[in-house]
Amino acid sequence: MDCLHIHGGLPLNGSVEVGGAKNAALPIMAASILASQPVRLIGVPELVDVRTLSLLLGHLGVEVKREGAGDLRIQTVDPRPTRADYDLVRRMRASFCVLGPLVARRGRAAVALPGGCNLGARPVDLHLAGLAALGADIYIQRGYVVARARRLAGATIDLAGPRGPSVTGTANILSAAVLARGRTVIWNAAREPEIVDLGRFLNKLGARIEGLGSDTIEVLGVTELGGAVHRIIPDRIEAATLLMAGAITGGAVRVNEVEPAHMSAVLSVLSATGADVHCGSGEVSVRSAGRLRPVDLAALPYPGVPTDLQAQFMALAAVADGASTIRDLVFPERFLHVDELNRLGARVVRTSGGARVDGVAQLSGAPVTASDLRASAALVLAALAAEGHSVVRRVHHLDRGYERLEAKLARLGARIARRQLTAVGSHQEPATA
Ligand code: UD1
Repeated sequence: MDCLHIHGGLPLNGSVEVGGAKNAALPIMAASILASQPVRLIGVPELVDVRTLSLLLGHLGVEVKREGAGDLRIQTVDPRPTRADYDLVRRMRASFCVLGPLVARRGRAAVALPGGCNLGARPVDLHLAGLAALGADIYIQRGYVVARARRLAGATIDLAGPRGPSVTGTANILSAAVLARGRTVIWNAAREPEIVDLGRFLNKLGARIEGLGSDTIEVLGVTELGGAVHRIIPDRIEAATLLMAGAITGGAVRVNEVEPAHMSAVLSVLSATGADVHCGSGEVSVRSAGRLRPVDLAALPYPGVPTDLQAQFMALAAVADGASTIRDLVFPERFLHVDELNRLGARVVRTSGGARVDGVAQLSGAPVTASDLRASAALVLAALAAEGHSVVRRVHHLDRGYERLEAKLARLGARIARRQLTAVGSHQEPATA
């Protein structure tokens, strides 16, 4: 198992390229099941999650080939399989995005229930209610969601959940509605740029979708979709994480090939910390010197601050000059990083609605363990700011969503190296009984 060794305390400086968005690439790859002609996706990051979905699509008769860095060629070679196995679905929740495309295109889908994960409860009721409204016959059998429909029929669907719209729920319903007979209206649809990207991709295949980026999406169903060439939007979460690496270390970092408009709320919070933020065409830079200022933030659905950056902002708050409050209204239990940040010397306490962070002047290096994808990024940020040596364990979580993050950070001047856990030296795993 890999871990990252980090010698913190160095300001990061320079510019770095951001890859394609994981959360756009995954539902778009899943929606490629709908295409009757080959699909070429440009700018797909090399991530463990992308490999997992490629494997799952392969089992479903959809060939995914990497053609040079960042490009995927996707083509259905066998339209018969309809079953997405538990072993692959449990590795990655986004696998559930094959449900809508499978039932819409192949008339049947059996997809393992994704189950819980480290972000707290993650139900799929909205996905299922939406597909049922489109006329799918849905039942649970031996841990699998089975959905069947000769042809789906357009409907009006309200996707509002208790914590806002569901992002992958919107992806599933949208990807199913494009082949349904007649008109579908989705109320309270997710407005995330990744959903807009999915919709644009589907329109390139021949779908008729309007209202993307608003909370009401309308779809006029068509009988068949063709193929397309599509470039995935830049990853706003990766971009923000790299900018925060600049801010937390008192450096100056520019991210290239990004879409600043997708990051407005995030950049406002970064500015509120006292960092100097500048946006150009396809680039954003951040410069910071001295202590950051504390912030009060609540993670919200887009266009709010994404829950996928809540942990990283907590790392920044940990070294701010004063007390910050951080809440997560999307995943209220997504706070497993608190104890590990405290191990690095942060002073974070859980409160009923989130966490209070009393900034400290200096974090100190320590061995820490990543619990999930974005929590891993927060630990890396904190370790970059901490004095001395840290080891971040279980970085396979990080590899699910960041393409060679340590290489990008090293290019900015970080002292960071990936090693096998057995070579940790002073931070060896304790012997287990
Ligand atoms: C997606 C993102 C994930 C991000 C999250 C919130 C992908 C592949 N993953 O996850 O990175 O953290 O959006 O921006 O795009 N909910 C229900 N019923 C449902 C579905 C969800 O109540 O059927 C609730 C969830 O428990 C949560 C909230 O809705 O409280 C938002 O979850 P959702 O948007 O569905 O997250 P994902 O799509 O799984």
